[in-house]
Amino acid sequence: MITIAIGKGRIQETALPLLARAGICLNDDAVNSRRLALMDQTGQYRFIFVKPADVPVYVEHGIADCGIVGRDVLLESEADVLLPLDLGISRCRIVVAAADREVMTKVQGMIRVATKYAQIARAHFGSRGIPVEIIQLSGSVELAPALGLADVIVDLVETGITLKENGLTVVEEIGESTGRLVVNRASYQLKTDEVGRLVRALELVV
Ligand code: PRP
Repeated sequence: MITIAIGKGRIQETALPLLARAGICLNDDAVNSRRLALMDQTGQYRFIFVKPADVPVYVEHGIADCGIVGRDVLLESEADVLLPLDLGISRCRIVVAAADREVMTKVQGMIRVATKYAQIARAHFGSRGIPVEIIQLSGSVELAPALGLADVIVDLVETGITLKENGLTVVEEIGESTGRLVVNRASYQLKTDEVGRLVRALELVV
């Protein structure tokens, strides 16, 4: 049996249909329940549903053999995990956004950046030699510019609706994020057949 950690929320919504296409099915009633650990219908896979940011933690520590999580989360994490497959799900952009497209040239002094992605933001502005103050938030970051907490945000954009409805526009593109399959180093060696079977089954439907 192998254990797969899945990020709750958006990634889970796209990962479960992909797994089903690969022949790995969960019982609908179980998925809709509040149980956080479930077996698939064959009993070969155990799924644990955790906060996306915790997926690399569970996989690095070997509690889960594999995980499904966005590249955005992996860029923020320092976990040492293997990355065998881009699943192409939950595609979104990582952007700098603001109310005023010219904000970067208008701000005097340090630019205040509100984000859930402190590492990504620091690396992005650092590589361009722009001094910034990072304001770490846990969500709803689109509120920060309107409320005067920050000049810009670094966040994910999928449909663009959240930005638009909060009066923000994309100032710069940082990168793209898609869901990835990650594997624990030891599981990759010790459970070669099981992990290999999972990777091949997913490769066929990606
Ligand atoms: C994500 C992201 C944006 C939003 C983008 O937030 O941080 O806020 O989705 O989606 P859109 O472009 O389709 O509107 P999420 O819903 O995960 O919640 P959060 O505010 O807690 O980060």
